[in-house]
Amino acid sequence: MIVSPSLLSADFGNLQRDIEMLNASEADWFHLDVMDGVFVPNISFGFPVMEAMAKAAKKPLDVHLMIVEPQKFVSQVAALGAKIMNVHYEACVHLHRVVQQIKDAGMMAGVTLNPHTPVCLLEDIIKDLDLVMLMSVNPGFGGQKFIENSLQKTRQLRELIDRKASKALIEVDGGVNRIAGKQLKEAGADALVAGSAIFKSSDPVSEVAALKYL
Ligand code: DX5
Ligand code: ZN
Repeated sequence: MIVSPSLLSADFGNLQRDIEMLNASEADWFHLDVMDGVFVPNISFGFPVMEAMAKAAKKPLDVHLMIVEPQKFVSQVAALGAKIMNVHYEACVHLHRVVQQIKDAGMMAGVTLNPHTPVCLLEDIIKDLDLVMLMSVNPGFGGQKFIENSLQKTRQLRELIDRKASKALIEVDGGVNRIAGKQLKEAGADALVAGSAIFKSSDPVSEVAALKYL
């Protein structure tokens, strides 16, 4: 299992310390949650903070843009050295074009679905995607409860990817802990994002390992 800890739950007063802790863990990617106060009802951090994160991070960056018009920021995300750029299906009128722009900039193209957005809407773009991220909470805040229907969506997405012979990875984001993680693995997920499960743990490094070897 690929584990992508969300830095949204880190201690921003001790960001360097928390990133170094994750550098020494079995985490695979670093998940960076960008919120603009328009697409979601919260504001997190932007490029100046992500530049500092990128400097300290020794793992690939998995950038999750919860913003309107994410296509405006493709080159800035690429300049961070990000491995994955995740844009929301609901934020992109011309999703096919944005996906090509992300790939042309040398990143993996990820498309994220809100809890209410059905998997079948990806039917005609799944072959172009490197990753699909399913939101298992409504985006905007860490520490929310896992929405159970995400298991069913993960199974549907697995079926779509296999049927279309797409190479897209399945990532799930929101409320993921060991219990949900195990069910998601059985449903066909490849990657898990976890914020509070890792950072609220008394032993975050062991929590990362627990999610990795479910
Ligand atoms: C929610 C974010 C998530 C969140 C994960 O808007 O996209 O990445 O920070 O945190 P937990 O695991 O606490 O739900
Ligand atoms: Zn996220």
